[in-house]
Amino acid sequence: MLVFKIKKVIDEAPDVKSYVIEHKLNAKPGQFVMVWMPGVDEVPMSIGLQTDTEFTLSIAKAGDCTALMHEKLSVGDKIGIRGPFGKPFTFEGKKNIVLVGGGCGTPPMLNLAQVATAKGIKTTVLLGGRTSEHLLFEKTFKELGCEIKVATDDGSKGHKGYVTDLLKKELEKGEVDCVYTCGPELMMVTVARLAQDFNIPSQVSLERFMKCGFGICGQCCIDGTGLRVCKDGPVFDGEIALKHQEFGKYKRDSAGLMIGLDGCALDKNL
Ligand code: FES
Repeated sequence: MLVFKIKKVIDEAPDVKSYVIEHKLNAKPGQFVMVWMPGVDEVPMSIGLQTDTEFTLSIAKAGDCTALMHEKLSVGDKIGIRGPFGKPFTFEGKKNIVLVGGGCGTPPMLNLAQVATAKGIKTTVLLGGRTSEHLLFEKTFKELGCEIKVATDDGSKGHKGYVTDLLKKELEKGEVDCVYTCGPELMMVTVARLAQDFNIPSQVSLERFMKCGFGICGQCCIDGTGLRVCKDGPVFDGEIALKHQEFGKYKRDSAGLMIGLDGCALDKNL
């Protein structure tokens, strides 16, 4: 594990902060790191923008550990980093791609857009959020040269409704090579199914509770396929993800017990 000082903290949206670390990480888009906060916990985090001297972790307040990170971490504080780990997004041979990011699942889309646009791949980004305040990195995606379309639940910006409504319109144009997505799991299920309907490949990035982060403890195994999210993912082909029994339905807590995707007790009707 390497220990780094936080160089900068950016408030991105309600409940989302970015932490800039001075280090060349050399991660591929879609890979993740295990972030250790002394005295609190260690959690997997996706990686945002990367340069030759820095990388960014954007952390949404989504549990005790991330809430403490928001509360306690500031410039100059130290965090431990293991990784990068996991299978990245792939885009060899693609010329026209669509990225679908929902809420705090958007950071890995940023790194993917950064690398894809640098390779000259036409990149359209579809961003979804509860309100205009919850749309992440819109300006940065534009600066990278992406075409951007947005959807909000309350209609405060862009299309009022689901970001997947925008995806359907993009796929109907018949020009898309591949769809990439990260965000709420029910949204990703719809993305993978839509891509399947249009006979277009898709890649989805899953999140599960992790311990080792590199494939030995079995904590993150997925029901239905037995694949490990940390080693065989977190990026899965959409067709494979749709075969995961738990995709869009449930996940497991630190004790391995089934819980709902919102982290609450499981709906008995599942
Ligand atoms: S977290 Fe240990 S196998 Fe995935």
